[in-house]
Amino acid sequence: MDVTRDRAWETLTRYTQSEALRRHALAVEAAVRAYARKLGEDEERWGVVALLHDFDYEIHPTLDKHPQDGAPILRDEGYPEDVIEGILSHANHLELERDTPLKRTLFACDELCGFVHACGLVRPEGIDTLEPKSVRKKLKQPSFASGVSREDVYAGAELLGVDLDEHIAFVIAAMRPIAAELGLRTGAAAEA
Ligand SMILES: [Fe+2]
Ligand SMILES: [Fe+2]
Repeated sequence: MDVTRDRAWETLTRYTQSEALRRHALAVEAAVRAYARKLGEDEERWGVVALLHDFDYEIHPTLDKHPQDGAPILRDEGYPEDVIEGILSHANHLELERDTPLKRTLFACDELCGFVHACGLVRPEGIDTLEPKSVRKKLKQPSFASGVSREDVYAGAELLGVDLDEHIAFVIAAMRPIAAELGLRTGAAAEA
């Protein structure tokens, strides 16, 4: 099969009806694609892995099933093993080695995208004016977006070998062009 973005979107939306989960997929896709671009890697391939990393979460909402029980579904659909392996690697409980730049990038973007999204939701201008400093401050408030693992956010940046502030700024910049799709207010919308 051709591993295309269109095909991955079709798979994602067949298994995922939740708008929040689709938005999460889009946010992680944007961040991972931006890193692929920066590193001169295969943007389409990286984007597909990111888009599909939680594709089965709606049908497998617990860690005894997600994402491992999603793998045979993707295999049946014809996705190649490198895509499936990339997806599986984001799950800490599977304890797979994150031995490629894609795997490290996906892990580093997953929780942080969720957190940046949460930060944007409580700001009048979404992520338009969001800066790493304020994200870091919120990271230190355990009650804010408590579902996001701080440990994974910090570990991700370290695994990727990037400064946390730079990583946060990079992810924010990657998500900005699709802020409206992510359900975030934008400066333009606020003025209207
Ligand atoms: Fe997941
Ligand atoms: Fe995720």
